[in-house]
Amino acid sequence: MVKISELISNFMPRQGLSFRLLFFIIICNFFFAVFTTGFSLYQEYIADKAQILSNIDNIYTSFGQSVAVSVWNLNEAQIAVQIDGILDFPDIQYVRIRETIENVNIVLSEVGTPPKDATFGRSFILEYQGSEVGQLEILASLEGIYARLINKVIYVLASQIIISLLLSIVILGLVHQIVIRHLVKMVEYIRTSTPEGLEKPIVLDGRADRKEDNELDELADAFNFARTKTRLEFNARQLANEKLSYERDFTKTVINYSNTIICCLNSDLSIDSCNSAGSEISGINVNALLGEDWVSIFVEDGKQVDIQKSLMCYESIDSIELRLNESTNRKNTLIWSFAPFYDGGAIRFMIGFGHDVTDLKTAELQLTTLNNELEEKVALRTKILKETNTKLAVAFEDLKHAQQSLVETEKLASLGRLVAGVAHEINTPIGISVTVNSALEGEHQKISTLLDDKKLTKKKLDYFISRVGEATVLMGRTLETASDLVQNFKQVSADQISSKRRDFDLKTMISELLATLAPTYKRHKLSQDVPGGICLDSYPGALSQVITNLTTNALAHGYGESDKGDIRIKVEAPQGDKLIIVFTDDGKGIPPENIDKIFEPFFTTRRGSGGTGLGLNIVHNIMTSILGGRIWVESTVGVGTVFYLELPLVAPVFKDKKPAVAHHQAIT
Ligand SMILES: Nc1ncnc2c1ncn2[C@@H]1O[C@H](COP(=O)(O)OP(=O)(O)OP(=O)(O)O)[C@@H](O)[C@H]1O
Ligand SMILES: [Mg+2]
Repeated sequence: MVKISELISNFMPRQGLSFRLLFFIIICNFFFAVFTTGFSLYQEYIADKAQILSNIDNIYTSFGQSVAVSVWNLNEAQIAVQIDGILDFPDIQYVRIRETIENVNIVLSEVGTPPKDATFGRSFILEYQGSEVGQLEILASLEGIYARLINKVIYVLASQIIISLLLSIVILGLVHQIVIRHLVKMVEYIRTSTPEGLEKPIVLDGRADRKEDNELDELADAFNFARTKTRLEFNARQLANEKLSYERDFTKTVINYSNTIICCLNSDLSIDSCNSAGSEISGINVNALLGEDWVSIFVEDGKQVDIQKSLMCYESIDSIELRLNESTNRKNTLIWSFAPFYDGGAIRFMIGFGHDVTDLKTAELQLTTLNNELEEKVALRTKILKETNTKLAVAFEDLKHAQQSLVETEKLASLGRLVAGVAHEINTPIGISVTVNSALEGEHQKISTLLDDKKLTKKKLDYFISRVGEATVLMGRTLETASDLVQNFKQVSADQISSKRRDFDLKTMISELLATLAPTYKRHKLSQDVPGGICLDSYPGALSQVITNLTTNALAHGYGESDKGDIRIKVEAPQGDKLIIVFTDDGKGIPPENIDKIFEPFFTTRRGSGGTGLGLNIVHNIMTSILGGRIWVESTVGVGTVFYLELPLVAPVFKDKKPAVAHHQAIT
């Protein structure tokens, strides 16, 4: 029993919605039942009463005439029978018959108990043959109606109560199923929710796969939304709290461990709070500092009044240098800054920041002393440096002279080398000439002697003449070789070349040159690829000599007896103020060990066959000095040789004509 009552109270607590709902349903139902039942019973009562009166009217219709006859005849037995007959009708309780004699009514017969409400009935006039003979009164009882109505009331109320109860239970069950259990779940959910909101969102039983939301679903959604929002806000607040506490700890640590004094001053400039730096610097215990007048501790005597005035007016002070008051027995110097601290719109404190600059001050003093010393030292050093500089300048001059004389010496040496080379080359033809000359002298001596002795025969004269002829031819050839050598040698000094500067079209110049060279290259092919319209302001004679030398070299060194060479001259479009002429042959090529030497004077691989080794040296000198360009070579043995001639569109102008120095270096 206890358990059932507990179950009921759990299911339907007295203050619960279910209980109140049930209570209201029963009360309302009861009142509705009472009202409807009362209304219907009243209707029935009215109808029953009307029915009884109608019955009485019917009784009169049926019995009235016969009763009037019996009264006229004074037939009492008949009257008694008739009254019994009337009383047999339902609800008829009392019947009285009176006889009217000369307007006076005399009771003839009266049967039954008159009801309490003697008015509920009818009184009829009994007439016989047109004249009144008496009165018939029929009174009915309402008790029958009342008994029926009471039965009906009991039945209707009982059935209404049962229906109400059943209906309430069903409605309650439904309400519980549809509403209450979800509400209970939500309440339980909220009760057990934690601020962290780690639990899952609420899902109403049986509503996970719903198709449409009802009010409870919306309520649950609102719960979930509120839960998410609460959780987010909680997290944000927690984060903010953590940050706040971190910042508080951080600030506290910074303030406590700062070397700078940080203190809050009240309006009367007494110290409200101060960090440990204040105590360390002033030498006064932190607690002893509290409540003390800040000015009398931290400000030197002469400045106290001004500072006090400013601070009392809450003026911000920025970087003021103050020494500790003499009373502290310390000589520290601090730089103070003050800022007001507001609380709720009013200034609560002046916060002072005092940075101890005693060490800095000392250092500054030392620095000034050092600076002064340094300036003296610098002046001294500058003087020494000046003297050294003068000495150096003299030494530099000496060095320049030495270098000059070295260059001269080197020039002389290189000239010597050149002369030695020339001497070596020229020595052969001169030697031959000397030999031939001395032989000729011998022959001349012999013929003179013969002539003096008059022994000169025609045969001997013919022999002498033939010897002189041979000697002349030999000497002529040898001297010619020597002359050629000297001519070539003269050209080593590039500015000796008789060359006239002028504007010329490159394509035209190269075409004309190739035409003049045509007889020399016979079976070989010499082609050119030069764009038209390239105009140079340069030395066409010098450039012709360069190309001629390269062509001669290609033919002389590149190909064998039966080879058919393919020599090409290609000019790219000018890049800026320069252009490159590419001179290519497909001959034997230059071995790597020779490639660095080919521009040196007297380097030749054809010494025995008429080569002097001056050709490329002359080319190099012309390119680098007269034409103001560069030359370099690339070569692969068995594939061919490529000479690159880079030259400006406008050749340089030489003011003083010095002999160009030949560079004995191949540009690769
Ligand atoms: N196109 C080439 N192919 C292969 N070897 C070359 C070519 N041009 C020059 N040489 C090499 O470079 C050397 C030097 O050339 P350079 O013109 O200075 O002298 P040379 O031709 O031998 O004599 P010279 O020009 O005085 O008659 C040549 O002897 C030759 O070995
Ligand atoms: Mg040559």
